[in-house]
Amino acid sequence: MSRAGWGDAAQLAALQELQAEGLTLDARGSDDLIRAVAVTTVFGERTVLDGIDLAIRRGEVFVLMGPSGCGKTTMLRHLCGLRAPTFGTVSIGGRDIHALPAAELHALRLRTGMAFQGGALLGSLTVEENVALPLRENAGRQLPREVIRQVARAKLDMVGLLPAAERMPADLSGGMCKRAAIARAIALDPEIVFLDEPTAGLDPITAAGIDNLIVKLNAVFGITMVVVTHDLPSAYAIADRMAVFFDGQVAAFGTKDQVLEAGDPRIRDFVDRRMRDAERPEIDVARHMIL
Ligand SMILES: Nc1ncnc2c1ncn2[C@@H]1O[C@H](COP(=O)(O)OP(=O)(O)O)[C@@H](O)[C@H]1O
Ligand SMILES: [Mg+2]
Repeated sequence: MSRAGWGDAAQLAALQELQAEGLTLDARGSDDLIRAVAVTTVFGERTVLDGIDLAIRRGEVFVLMGPSGCGKTTMLRHLCGLRAPTFGTVSIGGRDIHALPAAELHALRLRTGMAFQGGALLGSLTVEENVALPLRENAGRQLPREVIRQVARAKLDMVGLLPAAERMPADLSGGMCKRAAIARAIALDPEIVFLDEPTAGLDPITAAGIDNLIVKLNAVFGITMVVVTHDLPSAYAIADRMAVFFDGQVAAFGTKDQVLEAGDPRIRDFVDRRMRDAERPEIDVARHMIL
């Protein structure tokens, strides 16, 4: 991503134009905020994604699920604009994001947040400084240091990590690292957050805490969440709707019940194996409304 920030005249103009047109993440009367049409990805000889169609609604938690290596991370990178597919299109708010000029793509990215599996925190900065980074990079010239600090601390509070604000990333547990990455992803108050395997490598209780956080951020702040996971209990705990990927295609799509009812034997097998592996405590959103 470009490091040029709000002070950059071209980017400011692009953002203002988007807003003037009323197109900024606005699906124009449709509930669909993100649309993928015929997305196909070829790596060398291999077709990893083969004509994927998806529609993600504004305000939902949408889960991309499927076994390791089936192309979930690749799809997420297409959806958030990090990489263009070989064929097909991805649009957000009705705009083909891979055809946007760089300044407009940057403007759009400021309205989205992401936490990728490999996207570790910077080890030389405190947790608070890590969360402040997107603010510093994009609004540093406009916002006083103290305001940036307060916003970063508010985000840490939202993910339950304020007591760890001064710690270094190396001193955090796995679950705390995931929370810090989520705090950084919401630093700029995004409308959409993309998360790649937010519960990977966590014990079931810690994973349930992250599930809980995802559901709360969605319920309380209305953030559209697009979450990749191969963790079935997690998918079932958080998803409003989901797409299950197999062999480069969407094998099932819809609500949890619709996916189960689809009756695809590959999905039944996947579900049976995963459900046997882990039990997850129920999420009580109402009880946890206070962040
Ligand atoms: N940049 C790349 N170049 C070549 N192959 C890739 C690249 N990225 C991913 N792949 C391959 O595409 C397949 C899907 O990868 P990925 O999207 O990471 O799957 P998942 O996230 O579902 O585990 C894997 O076989 C992986 O090795
Ligand atoms: Mg992956």
